[in-house]
Amino acid sequence: MHSSIFDRVKEAPPDPILSISAAYRADPSPKKVNLGVGAYRTDDGSPYVLPIVKHFEQQFANDPSTTHEYLPQDGFTNFNYHSARLILGHDSSALKEERVVTVQALSGTGALRIGFAFIANFIGNRLVYIPNPTWSNHRNVVPQAGLPPTKNYRYFEPNTRAVDIEGLLQDLSIAIEGSIVIFHGCAHNPTGADPSKADWQRILKVVKSKKLVPFFDNAYQGFASGNLDTDAWSTRLFVESGIDMFVAQSYAKNMGMYGERVGALNVILSSSGPVTAVKSQLKQLIRAMYSNPPLHGARIAAAIMSDKESFRQWEMELEKMSARIQTMRLRLRDALNKNGAPGNWDHIVNQIGMFSFTGLTSQQVAFMRDKYHIYMTSNGRVSMAGLTESTVDYVADAIKDAVESVVKQD
Ligand SMILES: Cc1ncc(COP(=O)(O)O)c(C=O)c1O
Repeated sequence: MHSSIFDRVKEAPPDPILSISAAYRADPSPKKVNLGVGAYRTDDGSPYVLPIVKHFEQQFANDPSTTHEYLPQDGFTNFNYHSARLILGHDSSALKEERVVTVQALSGTGALRIGFAFIANFIGNRLVYIPNPTWSNHRNVVPQAGLPPTKNYRYFEPNTRAVDIEGLLQDLSIAIEGSIVIFHGCAHNPTGADPSKADWQRILKVVKSKKLVPFFDNAYQGFASGNLDTDAWSTRLFVESGIDMFVAQSYAKNMGMYGERVGALNVILSSSGPVTAVKSQLKQLIRAMYSNPPLHGARIAAAIMSDKESFRQWEMELEKMSARIQTMRLRLRDALNKNGAPGNWDHIVNQIGMFSFTGLTSQQVAFMRDKYHIYMTSNGRVSMAGLTESTVDYVADAIKDAVESVVKQD
């Protein structure tokens, strides 16, 4: 019998998020609605290219001096410069004291991947704590980078639909000293529930006393509140405390450059001494993984961030996108109140960011998919950007039917 080195490869389970879009695409129903996708959609359900992104895209295409040369391993210098200032703030003490190493990354996922590879190679075999629940890919990225499987810390209380701050603090206070802790800088995915400013101060205290190493994952800066500084508040609080930490950035959502893979990893050092060594090792890691990052998106992001007027236009776009999502939150909550769906739906308007954690069970989610062709992740996470004026009432009626027809089992 023929045998192959590949015979023992087992099929991987489908990705819980990406598989939803595939099922949606395969569904022939004209009524279908995709609430699984973590990408912004306009009110007619179309993908959106920010006009300021398009402007620079055209400008570079028409400029005869535009080339496609390789970037260095750490990426586009002007992009890194502005990216660090965007998340840390222009008056960041870490930047003034030259304690920051920024490298361009393959969007937010790539920033996490390089960061954890760096930790595995140079910091040691540390445990990584992740919020429960979290963006499912955190659980893949950490062990793929060579670290032990992640450990959960309590994050969300389903009964109050709010951050379980006491549980979170308790879990971090018994974490092994020196462990890495992933925090979502803002717009926690999937719950849409963020710690308050006072909560963050308490978290920082525990982090410092246990010598934990924060890894801030920022996939939604400016997209959550509509304001870039507001959404960077928690990250800046931790950075200004002067500790060693990591900060990942993504320009997928806030610039709508999902497929261009624009992001950055910032390593914040408590002292500037090892900066050159850290930077050289990050470059070496990148060289071995993919040599150097793509130029196209970073060139556009740098152009937007380095020009005052373009930056202002971007800020206006962010306000517009976050406002549409906020409107959809209100519309869905009001439609559920109007149609009499059992329960209180105020959490939909109280949550922040791209998603609403509805509280629907996996059985109710399956019911909505089978009967109404409405797709969302099995944990009841709804992408608010996937809703439009023309689908919101249909979705609200389907939720009512699901809640009434499918008794809660989980
Ligand atoms: C919490 C979180 N982190 C990171 C990412 C990374 O996204 P990307 O790699 O597309 O920038 C996402 C995207 O959905 C996210 O929700």
